[in-house]
Amino acid sequence: MKTDEVIALEKQVILQTYTRPPFVLERGNGVHLFDTEGNRYLDFVSGIAVNAFGYGDYDILETLKSQASRLIHCSNLYYTEPQVELAKLLVAHSFADKAFFCNSGTEAIEGVIKFARRWGHERFDHPKTRIITMTGSFHGRTYGALSATAQPKFHRGFEPLVPGFVTVPFNDLKAVQEAVTADTCAILVEPLQGEGGVNSADQAFLEGLRSLCDEREMLLIFDEIQFGLARSGALFAYQHFGVEPNLMTLAKPLAAGLPVGAVLLRDEVARYIEPGDHGTTFGGGPLVCSVACTVFRKLMDPELLNRVKELGAYLHASLGRLKGRRSQIKEVRGFGLIAGVVTEYEPKVLVEAFRKRNVLVCTSGKDAVRFLPPLIIEKQHVDEMVDVFDEILEQGVE
Ligand SMILES: Cc1ncc(COP(=O)(O)O)c(C=O)c1O
Repeated sequence: MKTDEVIALEKQVILQTYTRPPFVLERGNGVHLFDTEGNRYLDFVSGIAVNAFGYGDYDILETLKSQASRLIHCSNLYYTEPQVELAKLLVAHSFADKAFFCNSGTEAIEGVIKFARRWGHERFDHPKTRIITMTGSFHGRTYGALSATAQPKFHRGFEPLVPGFVTVPFNDLKAVQEAVTADTCAILVEPLQGEGGVNSADQAFLEGLRSLCDEREMLLIFDEIQFGLARSGALFAYQHFGVEPNLMTLAKPLAAGLPVGAVLLRDEVARYIEPGDHGTTFGGGPLVCSVACTVFRKLMDPELLNRVKELGAYLHASLGRLKGRRSQIKEVRGFGLIAGVVTEYEPKVLVEAFRKRNVLVCTSGKDAVRFLPPLIIEKQHVDEMVDVFDEILEQGVE
């Protein structure tokens, strides 16, 4: 099919929930994507923080092939080795004692909401069920996750939402303290808000939340779906901040693009969940888990983590220098291999200007252009992207 034909057919047969640029992607190699007309794009999106190892990684492909030929799926009615191996890896390298596997970030959020509420019901004489969330957060689109997402634009026309969620301003510890009541069971927070504009939590804020949760007997839940798994330069973002949660959600890069979500939790919460309380047909399947084991082993590699730190610092220093030269740039946010840049232009318009110059970037929140390269990016790719950004700002955009 020609590009125009694919686009016309998409408009006809696909529910129009996405606005897409006018090209059709066909394949990837390293940090580049190629469209059906043979054009090459430098990828600073990574499938929205999914493709940590870019495209065509040998270890991932080999794992995929060998597990696919043995067993793809058999349901959670039966034991499989890759599932327990993945859980063993995740708990051995994190604060957690147990893992629960599902199929997306959103589903992982649904899991933590249920597990936290179950804890709140069982642990106290008077059940605690309220959950505090942050302005600008993004946790997903199903009803529990949507209700936890404190951005009204995602709620419009879908009310009534699930009750029991309270929103406070992000990074405002005093507001959180004031919002806590006798029936608050948990605080849900992203250590860095990936969709809400690339806003990092303050160190003191996360430390304050930890103390508050300890004092008031509440659970601290970190959503590390976008920023966890090495993008911060630490294996988990909570390790960067040195603040441990009681529960954590993971997803995006964990299975290299196969659908996956994970909840990591401690026994203090896990003990209240029994067979039949929660479940999924696909979650934790052998193919996904075996690929995730390979991905996780690669992410844990200290060389990879050092590389992310080095390249993250390089990306931010390069964008910082560009800001010094170009007054249209107002702010550079984030750290590690995520950056949000606020300019005087509409983010969407800038994304299109990059695309026309064969660099893929995306937006974040109301005001930022987001850079989310594969973790295997090299300095020359950062230079190439920054040169393109410079050229766009030199020429200006309408
Ligand atoms: C922080 C965060 N939480 C939850 C989600 C939802 O994950 P998914 O799209 O895999 O359902 C996202 C997706 O962007 C996210 O960035």
